[in-house]
Amino acid sequence: MKLELLLVFAASLCVDGAPLNSKGPGKHNKLLLISFDGFRWNYDEDVYTPNMDQLVQEGVKAKYITPPMITMTSPSHFTTITGRWIEDHGVVHNMMFNSTSLLKLTFRNTLKQSKWWDNGALPLWITAQNQGLKTGSYFYPGGGVNYSKQAVDRFFVQKEGYVDNNETHWQQRVDTIMGWFTEEDFDFITLYFGEPDNIGHRVGPETDQRRRIIEQIDRLIGFLRESIRKHNLSDHLNVIITSDHGMTTIKKQPDVKEIKLSEFIHFLNLTHFDILDYGGFGMIRPRNGKVQEVYDKLKNAHPNLTVYKKEEIPENFHIAQNSRIQDIVLIGDLGFNLNSRMILYVNKGDHGFSNQEMDMKMIFRAFGPDFRKNYLAEPFDSVSVYPLMCKLLGVDPAPNNGSLSDTQAMLLDYTDAGGHAGRIQTSLWLLLAVMFVLLVL
Ligand SMILES: *[C@@H]1O[C@H](CO)[C@@H](O)[C@H](O)[C@H]1NC(C)=O
Ligand SMILES: *[C@@H]1O[C@H](CO)[C@@H](O)[C@H](O)[C@H]1NC(C)=O
Ligand SMILES: *[C@@H]1O[C@H](CO)[C@@H](O)[C@H](O)[C@H]1NC(C)=O
Ligand SMILES: *[C@@H]1O[C@H](CO)[C@@H](O)[C@H](O)[C@H]1NC(C)=O
Ligand SMILES: *[C@@H]1O[C@H](CO)[C@@H](O)[C@H](O)[C@H]1NC(C)=O
Ligand SMILES: *[C@@H]1O[C@H](CO)[C@@H](O)[C@H](O)[C@H]1NC(C)=O
Ligand SMILES: *[C@@H]1O[C@H](CO)[C@@H](O)[C@H](O)[C@H]1NC(C)=O
Ligand SMILES: [Zn+2]
Repeated sequence: MKLELLLVFAASLCVDGAPLNSKGPGKHNKLLLISFDGFRWNYDEDVYTPNMDQLVQEGVKAKYITPPMITMTSPSHFTTITGRWIEDHGVVHNMMFNSTSLLKLTFRNTLKQSKWWDNGALPLWITAQNQGLKTGSYFYPGGGVNYSKQAVDRFFVQKEGYVDNNETHWQQRVDTIMGWFTEEDFDFITLYFGEPDNIGHRVGPETDQRRRIIEQIDRLIGFLRESIRKHNLSDHLNVIITSDHGMTTIKKQPDVKEIKLSEFIHFLNLTHFDILDYGGFGMIRPRNGKVQEVYDKLKNAHPNLTVYKKEEIPENFHIAQNSRIQDIVLIGDLGFNLNSRMILYVNKGDHGFSNQEMDMKMIFRAFGPDFRKNYLAEPFDSVSVYPLMCKLLGVDPAPNNGSLSDTQAMLLDYTDAGGHAGRIQTSLWLLLAVMFVLLVL
């Protein structure tokens, strides 16, 4: 009896020391990816955020991370979950569109359209499932459709009209997720919150209302950590908190001359299709034979408007090589929205601007058993979150454009040579010692 107990004890020491990179289900810690839509990198700097501050002590913080070019919700979220550039995964806009039939669907309706998302690049949910893991998505964009006929094991999609800012609902969402991990043994879950994007659009980023919602998010992070503790997941769950883009204040008259494209081109005569009035990024499909004319008329039309023919789009944007990108691509300078026929005054804040602008950069935080503590990471491209997640889950990554070298220094077993490897050795020695004692006795 005593001997058996000793053996079990020794064996459990060995299991505890299992390194991050050993293969197979059950060998790795679980992973929760949380996205707060539109959480700009520095939103926690002008508000009291005790829980996020504590996370800095107890985990990893990157000063900021850079979203892909086309700093919009669906394109950027899909880059995070696939590790692919936008030209590669094909989700080029929040709205599903067809520039021939002129069809356009709203963001929320697009969330249910497999044919908008399923373009060959497999998101991590599906790749992980194919390797034996169990995955879920709570509201994360792209989590509600089929990829090569396969659905995410469990998912919820935000319904049209749902206002996602109720703190009680947020807490329920966290508890629900914890239940999936503990009671149903899910391995990987993505969790999405619609704030602070909504408030940033509605009243602008430099406002008290935005600071209040950051306080609400901070309380939720405190609630999350408590929920992780209550569910005994502290030693088994890694958490990554990030976003999809930042937010900037929209410049208006009389401070600036706003961009209104109908001042420069006759839409009816020259264009077949456009996707504009949606922040700082837009596209136009001119009528047959009118590409050059539209281009010439817009090229120097406004000092704060950049116009590209599709073939001129800089390669390092990683958007040009996709058939959904239209003949003419337009990008406004920071704060200059692309208005088509009239100036819409609805949004006080917006995004879609160049990913090189600091206002478009976003947060990255991480904590859990595999992350270092009090570690400040250098900025990196969000495309590299994917190989990090694969590493944490022990999943063989699908082809992707990210790089583990951007993120691996955050992990304990990369920097702390005596860490996991050392623990295993200690366990083995203990096991040998126990066996020796048993033999002698
Ligand atoms: C777009 O619409 C056209 C015309 O209705 C149709 O022929 C084409 O198949 C559609 N393209 C896609 C990708 O659905
Ligand atoms: C995914 O596939 C299932 C089974 O074929 C189907 O019932 C469901 O409607 C599909 N979902 C979407 C979003 O197309
Ligand atoms: C949030 O949701 C809870 C539970 O559904 C409800 O009781 C509460 O009134 C809501 N709060 C707000 C501010 O809408
Ligand atoms: C967590 O562990 C404690 C102590 O072992 C136990 O009493 C409790 O029921 C566990 N809670 C859950 C949610 O598993
Ligand atoms: C638009 O086309 C119509 C018909 O060809 C023409 O009469 C009109 O002058 C054009 N308008 C502009 C602004 O080019
Ligand atoms: C808008 O254009 C003017 C003139 O070129 C320039 O001085 C200004 O910096 C631009 N604004 C932004 C936000 O880039
Ligand atoms: C991105 O990754 C895909 C898949 O490996 C590859 O085909 C593509 O060439 C990569 N893009 C770039 C710009 O390296
Ligand atoms: Zn967004």
